[in-house]
Amino acid sequence: MKKQKSCCRVLFQEQIAAGIFDLRLETALGSGARPGQFVGVFPKDGAMLLPRPVSICDADDTSLRLVYRIAGKGTASMSALRPGDSVDVLGVLGNGFPLEEAAGKQVLLMGGGIGIPPMLFAARVLSERIAAGHADAPAAVTIVCGYRDAETFLSEELSACGNLLIATDDGSAGTQGTVIDALRAAEVKADVIFACGPKPMLSAVKEYGASARTFLSLEERMACGVGACLGCVCKTTETDAHSHVRNARVCTDGPVFAGEEVSL
Ligand SMILES: Cc1cc2nc3c(=O)[nH]c(=O)nc-3n(C[C@H](O)[C@H](O)[C@H](O)COP(=O)(O)OP(=O)(O)OC[C@H]3O[C@@H](n4cnc5c(N)ncnc54)[C@H](O)[C@@H]3O)c2cc1C
Ligand code: FES
Repeated sequence: MKKQKSCCRVLFQEQIAAGIFDLRLETALGSGARPGQFVGVFPKDGAMLLPRPVSICDADDTSLRLVYRIAGKGTASMSALRPGDSVDVLGVLGNGFPLEEAAGKQVLLMGGGIGIPPMLFAARVLSERIAAGHADAPAAVTIVCGYRDAETFLSEELSACGNLLIATDDGSAGTQGTVIDALRAAEVKADVIFACGPKPMLSAVKEYGASARTFLSLEERMACGVGACLGCVCKTTETDAHSHVRNARVCTDGPVFAGEEVSL
């Protein structure tokens, strides 16, 4: 299906940690969106033609929440958006996490750095399923997040959705070290793992979760966002039936892949 560009109105934006912004948009785009899906946000500066991929941190029928870090010019221009401004958004894009795999299972949600925002959407949906006795509800949810320091953005909302473990690079909050160090310290067991974060973290998650089902959200650099440019391919373990090469497009085949499908 061709993805449409929609003009959305900015409802609200605030800085929630150093260089990290929480943006709310008025739009029906997020209705039916799944955790792990993303949108492409077009920078206001017309000199930047390509949309910037940003994961959905939360969504309902009338609004989208995006939490992002300023990385360069595109995200810096997003941070200048004010209530009432309009912004073009492409999407909703990507496949999202297969949350039905969580049914009846011990679930681990893992986020590292700017991979944390989509895990809040997943945590919120799964905790609501538990509360409602939904057929696909997990048995329990543990959330593990890795931050640089004590600026643990979104942690209050995450802890309202399940048992939250924190790891920080500098040891100023939670366990000093990586998300894997925090897991080992708490001796957490899991049947299913959903994770989003930098590649070294996803690699470690894949190894740690060898006996669990793992679903990893990759954040490759993207250009078109809709499968046309091959700018975002990742290496796969199996050969693609059409292209006969071992790769997949993160924007349309992902960004979520089963751990065994991808080579990191
Ligand atoms: C599916 C997906 C979901 C994402 N979700 C989020 C999110 O929820 N919040 C968020 O803050 N960011 C997210 N990102 C990353 C975000 O898209 C980039 O930070 C952004 O596009 C950078 O644009 P820029 O113009 O500000 O910086 P640029 O000038 O384009 O780049 C600045 C620096 O960031 C690096 N960079 C750019 N894109 C990426 C990337 N994808 N991964 C790693 N490094 C990159 C560049 O190499 C460069 O060093 C996501 C990326 C993908 C692919
Ligand atoms: S970004 Fe163009 S194919 Fe994925």
